[in-house]
Amino acid sequence: NRPPFKTRTRLPFDAIAGNRADVITVPAGFNSLSFIPWGTPITGRYPEFREDAGNTARDQAEQVGMHHDGMHFFPIDAQRGAGKSSNHGLLVLNHEYVDQAMLHPRGATVVAGRRVNAEEVRKEINAHGVSVVEVRRDNRGQWNVQPSMRNRRVTGATPMRIEGPARGHDLMKTRYSPSGTTTRGTLNNCANGFTPWGTYLTCEENWAGYFATNETQTPRHLSRYGVRGTGRYGWETVAGDEFERFDATPKGASAVNDYRNEPNTFGWIVEIDPFNPDSTPIKHTALGRFAHEGIVFAPVKPGRQLVCYSGDDAQNEYIYKYVSRDKYHNQAGGGRLLGEGTLYVARFNADGSGDWLALDINDPQFRDACAAAGVSFANQGEVLINTRLAADIVGATRMDRPEWGAVNPDNGDVYFTLTNNSGRTSSDAANPRSPNPYGHIVRWKESGGYNATRFNWDIYLLAGPQADSRGANGQPLDASNICASPDGLWFDAEGRLWIQTDMSGSQLNAGPFGNNQMLVSDPRTGETKRFLVGPRGCEVTGITATPDFRTLFVNIQHPGEGSTPDSYTSNWPRGGNSRPRSATVIITRDDGQALL
Ligand code: FEO
Ligand code: CA
Ligand code: CA
Ligand code: CA
Repeated sequence: NRPPFKTRTRLPFDAIAGNRADVITVPAGFNSLSFIPWGTPITGRYPEFREDAGNTARDQAEQVGMHHDGMHFFPIDAQRGAGKSSNHGLLVLNHEYVDQAMLHPRGATVVAGRRVNAEEVRKEINAHGVSVVEVRRDNRGQWNVQPSMRNRRVTGATPMRIEGPARGHDLMKTRYSPSGTTTRGTLNNCANGFTPWGTYLTCEENWAGYFATNETQTPRHLSRYGVRGTGRYGWETVAGDEFERFDATPKGASAVNDYRNEPNTFGWIVEIDPFNPDSTPIKHTALGRFAHEGIVFAPVKPGRQLVCYSGDDAQNEYIYKYVSRDKYHNQAGGGRLLGEGTLYVARFNADGSGDWLALDINDPQFRDACAAAGVSFANQGEVLINTRLAADIVGATRMDRPEWGAVNPDNGDVYFTLTNNSGRTSSDAANPRSPNPYGHIVRWKESGGYNATRFNWDIYLLAGPQADSRGANGQPLDASNICASPDGLWFDAEGRLWIQTDMSGSQLNAGPFGNNQMLVSDPRTGETKRFLVGPRGCEVTGITATPDFRTLFVNIQHPGEGSTPDSYTSNWPRGGNSRPRSATVIITRDDGQALL
């Protein structure tokens, strides 16, 4: 029997070395097993995965999607949302994007710059979104997928409802929804969140890249987000409403193929009720429109407003905070609190203080800032559709690509990863390297309650090689914990911080760090140790656990990145000469006890 965490001064495992093996490496005494890889049948006809990638678009809509990312385990038992079961639950996970070379038998078919195979494009759209998978641990300790009516795929085509101040706005009106109240699909679902009332939140990150526009004077609600000439997969080049909607070029107000407002229905936080497979997902516009990496809540207490944080992952973008107008009382009616509130953006001052600046058309300071900048918004819906521009106007601090946030359950301190920023040309106190190739983790404490507009911040960890880093203990990182490009971030229930990395390019392939990895850090002591190293070419992202902490779920995204149909750079998880597939990893202790 190990003593409780709070009485221990050392993390109870031996740090593993960095490596470039094509396997999952965990410390001695721990075990890892891959689970629900891309293509696992979960619903409908339960179509078997085909190793030659010959599954159809319809098959893909009944199988686990591609490129696993954020994830949450919802226990199934009588007390929904506050459940305690550690043997039975819904595992809900994001599928960020697709790798066409691996999704199709021979990659994407492109002729003269156009996609010519609608079935292929439909498969790509269906491989995006979210999977809801009912899972159960049998009496041998093995996790299995349950055939279940709750199993569900939400894709890039699933009908969704729009709520909050931008619902019904003129800029949200489309051919599909002349009232501006619905849209189709969610895309580029990166990190996630979950609510106290038992729903899942999926976050639309690099949605802008899926749309095209050939407008000469691109409007601010597209240009500020980087919607450009062609979509990343060329979906807009296929004939038909389901594809042409990705071309936002105005064709004329009465033209049937005018999709100018389609991109405005993306860039939001999306709420999914995993316990009701017939429910319509909700896009919550009150939480702002940007490249939402994820969302994390401050501790929720009855009688207090809801507070959550979300980062905009692009170079020199911002960190945001949302405070609900009304107070939280209980699970019933919780979702309403995401509909009305105030969105703030962070300014990190050089003296270690910080300010939350309201993006609220009724706030006199915001109105003054708009007037001074010569920018006008007709109403709050327009402010939220143009969240980035609103944040520019109030003078928020441009950050080094905000990724995940995590809140320490012990004291409410908020931690955010800033993954890297090759585009930084001048440093500031909160982003001290220029450029910043390795990233860092910033931390703050609200001054005077979670809904405060002031905070105090410091830098928790400066990632990098030994010669250019500072660990949470104030010392340079060493062989047991050098890391770069921190991305995924999560606190376990006992207050240990788990850090996942997303290096790419030469940093991944030739740096001193090895493959992407996951570390554990103890904020009480500053001790940080490498716990897991992923297979080749992957990113380690997404993390959740059962309430008893005997099972940890982690996602491995894009193993073998850069593979072609003829040459795989990884064969994880199946080994041999198999096709690389994103998958979840189940981590347990050999003795079956709680993980740490
Ligand atoms: Fe999809 Fe910012 O990572
Ligand atoms: Ca990420
Ligand atoms: Ca990343
Ligand atoms: Ca990714």
